[in-house]
Amino acid sequence: MQTLTLTRPDDWHLHLRDGEALAAVLPDTARRFARAIVMPNLKPPVTTVALAAAYRERILAALPAGMNFTPLMTLYLTNNMPAAEIDAVKASGFVHAIKLYPAGATTNSDAGVSDLKKCAATLARMEKLGVPLLVHGEVTDPAVDVFDREAVFIDRVLIPLLRDYPALKVVLEHVTTRNGIEFVKDSGANVAGTLTAHHLLLNRNAMFAGGIRPHHYCLPVLKRESHRQSLLAAAVSGNPKFFLGTDSAPHAQSAKEAACGCAGCYTAHAGIELYVEAFEAAGARDKLEAFASFHGADYYGLPRNTEKITLRRDAVTVPASLDYLAGERLVPLRAGESVAWRLA
Ligand code: DOR
Ligand code: ZN
Repeated sequence: MQTLTLTRPDDWHLHLRDGEALAAVLPDTARRFARAIVMPNLKPPVTTVALAAAYRERILAALPAGMNFTPLMTLYLTNNMPAAEIDAVKASGFVHAIKLYPAGATTNSDAGVSDLKKCAATLARMEKLGVPLLVHGEVTDPAVDVFDREAVFIDRVLIPLLRDYPALKVVLEHVTTRNGIEFVKDSGANVAGTLTAHHLLLNRNAMFAGGIRPHHYCLPVLKRESHRQSLLAAAVSGNPKFFLGTDSAPHAQSAKEAACGCAGCYTAHAGIELYVEAFEAAGARDKLEAFASFHGADYYGLPRNTEKITLRRDAVTVPASLDYLAGERLVPLRAGESVAWRLA
């Protein structure tokens, strides 16, 4: 089979940045995905519906003419987001979730939550109104091994959270471990998980192949092969709790190739094609459409897309770098190598 046609997919976890960076990366996503859940970790973060409305307008203004793409906005949870903001979210029609970054866990997370207890009233309102909490699931405790931070977060934070708010909609974003998969599977239908293409395709050896590989460094960090196998099994299982979220996260080449390089893999240039590779390697191409185009929409209570896209098996050489900011390049995943599928 040399072509694959599926309902146009959505990306349920995406970093679009702002300004010049936004204009550079947005077309890659808009060419492939009908909608995307847009992360709020700008500087300063998107903490109110009013800020999300303004950011949404900037995204739409950066969209090239003729492209059909809907940004689904999120707010950045802080220790002092008032519960009333959740009512404004519900009334807005364009903010779809609240993102939890544990303070210090990743890029632009310093304004994040230091203690979820401070958010009790807001979480109760989210549970009541059905507003999903999207979770960066890693503890920041420096005593915890970096490869164990997701598993420890589940035990220390997520299990108690769901004990306190059993009906809260929670998406464990970018699941990277068997522990995360089991947690999602064993929880109620209100709990789901997104999976990135890079975590489905790579294990932690990719960060050290022949030398240190900064473009394979992201958070949560890549894990060992047995965990990757668990993620892939969940992705192709047909379980509606798992859906596509690229976590495409652009950083300038100089910020990645540095003594203290930033976390994030840029994958939007092959945002659906990389998943086709992963599903095909698992012998489960027929399971991709539901994972990429149905499960997320159903979870968020949004209509499924009706348009179709077609991919062709025809290798594309990925450029060594892409245009990004003035004087700065963006190195995409697979730079200088190839992706086996292309958009027809
Ligand atoms: O690798 C990552 N990059 N993980 C995150 O959680 C944030 C993201 C970013 O914004 O660069
Ligand atoms: Zn992310």
